[in-house]
Amino acid sequence: MKRRDFLCGASCLLAGFALGKITNNNQDTMLCKKDDFYENDCGLGGFGIATSSHCNLNCKYCDTYSPLSKEEFVTYEQFSRDLEKLKELAPDRELELTFIGGEPLLNPDLTKMINKAYEIYPNSAKAILTNGILIEKMDDEFWKAIKKANVKFSITKYPIDIERDTIERKSKEYGFEYNYDTVKSNKLYDIKTKKVINENYNEQEGFEWSKNTLDLKGSQNYLLKRFNCPHRGINIYARGNIYYCYVHAYIKSFIEYFKVDIPITKDDYIKIADVKDIKEIDDFLSTPKFLCKYCKQCHNTCYGGEPLEWGFSERQITEWT
Ligand SMILES: C[S@@+](CC[C@H](N)C(=O)[O-])C[C@H]1O[C@@H](n2cnc3c(N)ncnc32)[C@H](O)[C@@H]1O
Ligand code: SF4
Ligand code: SF4
Repeated sequence: MKRRDFLCGASCLLAGFALGKITNNNQDTMLCKKDDFYENDCGLGGFGIATSSHCNLNCKYCDTYSPLSKEEFVTYEQFSRDLEKLKELAPDRELELTFIGGEPLLNPDLTKMINKAYEIYPNSAKAILTNGILIEKMDDEFWKAIKKANVKFSITKYPIDIERDTIERKSKEYGFEYNYDTVKSNKLYDIKTKKVINENYNEQEGFEWSKNTLDLKGSQNYLLKRFNCPHRGINIYARGNIYYCYVHAYIKSFIEYFKVDIPITKDDYIKIADVKDIKEIDDFLSTPKFLCKYCKQCHNTCYGGEPLEWGFSERQITEWT
């Protein structure tokens, strides 16, 4: 699975699940086929869940601005209400759900949320993206929920020194599958001291670290993004709202931390509780958004830039601009 492009290309996991909206069996009349992704409007077929906006790792250049985020969780109560509402609005859709973050394993309601996702959408694809740090702390109920709901467990392997045997044991014990998605790096870091503990670490099989750049002047052509940005299909659920893409869902943390003047208006998200017809969400997802004026859309490597070395965030604005 090429999660790399999660936030940098259409062949990625999240685009993968976003594209799931396109391949969803029982809605093929209104949703796009995968090949038509760039040409047609797409309705809601799934979303990433901003399970927690903050994170316990704090990577430099983090795509979801998690090092800048205050503690913020999606609660079980809200998630439950919103999922039931979506089911009521579109009973025939099996929405594909990916628990992302920040770091999803931080959310104390995660097990209940997985069970709820399975109750409402028993047949849709479900996944968790995690940095793996908390795996050894997860209890039996969690692993049972993963197995029962057939959640694809996807671990980003960062160049950090953490215990990695637990996942194999749990996977054998509970019978679920998992995969690693490895960050290329020449150095291994101690997660507690943040110091390099191995200068000769040589992880070359994997994906490159890079940064997605914002445009603080807001000079990007937002209409064009509607058609050519692969991330616009990576819809995210946060705060009871559906967002067009991950930048829109998480940029609040960047704006608040650096106190920059990027306006988020009511046109930039849609509140599930206020929706009367699923078409409102489909239409929302099919129209250009002003917020795209502030985003250059692609990671620096997409423009021929060099990959960046993974490291811990120093919370400098240059990590995102
Ligand atoms: C935002 S994270 C959330 C889940 C979890 N915290 C994790 O890191 O796996 C989702 C994916 O985006 C990737 N990602 C985030 N920032 C990135 C960056 N600057 N360059 C490349 N990939 C990035 C992560 O590696 C991870 O695979
Ligand atoms: S692990 Fe890194 S990339 Fe994932 S959310 Fe945390 S800080 Fe961001
Ligand atoms: S903000 Fe707009 S341009 Fe940037 S990733 Fe999202 S959809 Fe693409």
